Amino acid sequence: MRIVKTKDYDEMSRKAANIFFAQIVLKPDSVLGLATGSSVLGLYENLTASFKCGDLDFSEVKTVNLDEYAGLDGKNDQSYRFYMDGNLFSKVNIKKENTNLPDGLAKDMAAECARYNSLIESFGGVDIQLLGIGHNGHIGFNEPDCCFIKGTHVVDLSVSTIKANARFFADEKDVPSQAYTMGIQNIMQAKRIVLCVSGSQKAKILREALFGDVTPQVPGSVLQLHPDLIVVADEEALGGSDWV
Ligand code: GLP
Repeated sequence: MRIVKTKDYDEMSRKAANIFFAQIVLKPDSVLGLATGSSVLGLYENLTASFKCGDLDFSEVKTVNLDEYAGLDGKNDQSYRFYMDGNLFSKVNIKKENTNLPDGLAKDMAAECARYNSLIESFGGVDIQLLGIGHNGHIGFNEPDCCFIKGTHVVDLSVSTIKANARFFADEKDVPSQAYTMGIQNIMQAKRIVLCVSGSQKAKILREALFGDVTPQVPGSVLQLHPDLIVVADEEALGGSDWV
């Protein structure tokens, strides 16, 4: 594991974006595993700026997102498809058909999970996976559980995740109770993982995830076992930094 410590959110976003920048320059047909949430928004802004000034080309890039709410249409402004279209895909020259998220409206949920697993496999795996971490240690929407679930699956969101994500919705009761997520094996099979973490409210869980026991009760703790994990985190998330 490598830890890149940054002064603040903006520096975290720039440095994490630089890793993705290098990936795309060195392998223009990279498969990017992407994430949503506030931790990664600045990274998308930086990648968009690099595209606008002519330094990045997304024409051969393929993407697979980690997760999507079940029951939301991609046009719903709370769906992760909407987030990705608005914050990255519509701003760069990526081909829409090369962008992938689970279909929140799929009729047959089990078939949708199987389709998503096959899709990732058909790409030959993910070259670089972007992650944030939830307050309870979730990655993607892999919630604390009694075991690590391997493949794409449907989860019942925990009360704490629903509360944390309610800030994006008009009302807490509008937050879907279920979501699709890549499983732990899907995530761990990525060749490289970049975890972005910012703010003091994440310090405790980040420390637990990186240095505590590897346990499905803290899903992010499994990342300790990945051979190429880069944690890009600001001073606040690193809790005053006596431990790095
Ligand atoms: C959501 C997403 C995760 C994300 C997490 C943290 O629940 N499903 O993929 O990493 O929240 O989000 P944020 O970066 O906004 O704290």
